[in-house]
Amino acid sequence: MKDIVVIDDEIYICNIIIETLDCFDDCRVHQFTDPVEAATHISKNNVDLVLTDLVMGDYSGVEILETTLKNHPDAVVILMTGYPTVKTAISVLRKGGYDYLVKPFKLEDLKATIMRGLEHQRIKRENVELRSQVELMKIAEAMADGVQLKSLLNLIAKSAVRELPAKAASIVLFDPMSGEGRIKSIYGTAGGNDVEAFLHGESPQCRRTMTSLHPEFISEEMNDNDSPYHRTLVSFPLVSKRMLLGLLNVIYDNRFMEISTGQKRLVSLLASKAASAIEANNLHQDLQHSYLQTIASLANAIEARDHYTAGHTDRVYHYAEVLARQLNWSDARLNQLRNGCLLHDIGKIGIPDNVLNKPGFLTVEERKIMEQHPELGARILSDVPFLEPIIPYILTHHERYDGTGYPQGLKGEDIPMEGRLLAVADTFDAITSDRPYRQGRAPELAIEELVCHRGTQFDPHMVDLFVSANERGLVRVEHSEKMPAPAPLNATV
Ligand SMILES: [Fe+2]
Repeated sequence: MKDIVVIDDEIYICNIIIETLDCFDDCRVHQFTDPVEAATHISKNNVDLVLTDLVMGDYSGVEILETTLKNHPDAVVILMTGYPTVKTAISVLRKGGYDYLVKPFKLEDLKATIMRGLEHQRIKRENVELRSQVELMKIAEAMADGVQLKSLLNLIAKSAVRELPAKAASIVLFDPMSGEGRIKSIYGTAGGNDVEAFLHGESPQCRRTMTSLHPEFISEEMNDNDSPYHRTLVSFPLVSKRMLLGLLNVIYDNRFMEISTGQKRLVSLLASKAASAIEANNLHQDLQHSYLQTIASLANAIEARDHYTAGHTDRVYHYAEVLARQLNWSDARLNQLRNGCLLHDIGKIGIPDNVLNKPGFLTVEERKIMEQHPELGARILSDVPFLEPIIPYILTHHERYDGTGYPQGLKGEDIPMEGRLLAVADTFDAITSDRPYRQGRAPELAIEELVCHRGTQFDPHMVDLFVSANERGLVRVEHSEKMPAPAPLNATV
């Protein structure tokens, strides 16, 4: 239904226009001879098209034009005048008027101008819908590109605010274990404690949505400093396979209208994108976790085969973590470190038993075979994209700072920091652990050894950090048979 306002201080002109409008279906016409009354109506009601005289006593049709566009930015305003000048015409069009009719005009011309105006409005509004489609495309592309879940949910909340347009939007995710919701993304602002509770998924409306798994729309009349408006709170469940994953909550304010069917459809589409993204992320994490568990089992198998290194990875992780914490590594990097330590000797799986478990010293040939384990390990993991960040640990933990290490003979800072850090932790454990042919040495002796090879075998900075940590009692030397649990890689939620 279109709301059309006709304003002319001459009643017979109003009547003629109204007769002309009879041929338009789905129209509600509001007629005014008093421009002040018309302006009040326009500022308080929905308006799609305005036909106004340009000169009405002291009142100018340009004021009607300004009031209309201020309250209804996509309304069509057509001005009529019996005293046309080029200057006035230009001024009216510059201020956003759609067209300019010179009295007396033919009714066919009036009809054609109104039809063109409404068509122009339809296209303009469709463009808005098209923009929404573009937003959805952007989200779909981001999903296909493997954008992290948090960024994707931010994009969805932002799209809801921009395209409805809404006051604010949030996405709340549910932990299936605890049943608790955690806000993951919020965009826009809307004051008030009740609104905050709604955005955080803690309002009665949100709880109803969570129970019913159906969207809830609540509209109410609001009044802000004598300026009434409609507020609609939309709580949309994010559901996959009848399981509640979270909520998309939207606050929509509009002076004249409640949320439209098209806007509800857009929220529904955004919610379905969010649900797909969360589900894909959960699957991805499950897959990563089970992959990591498999590899951890392999690492356990190596420890079981290599009699000399039982409990080695667990201890190495402790020493490496001591160093990493002094370097202020992020939680994500500490997770990678944990998995790097767990898997750093995974390549030993390809070393024959008679070499791996040979008592005593290895021959030159046997040593060459043994020294293949970093490259073998890197090759094993090279086809697993999510394990890529831990390959430096595996490949470079036997490089030496002076360039005489293996497999690549990298020197100094050319050795990735992961390798320089792990070399110190790995060697400290090797010295302090028992071997069949010797007992583990005291930590003080191992520290002496590290200091002795500071700058030759080891990065001097790493040695200094380790010595300092040891002096502060941060290095705990103990013998454990327990393997560290794999860290959840790429934990994005
Ligand atoms: Fe190794």
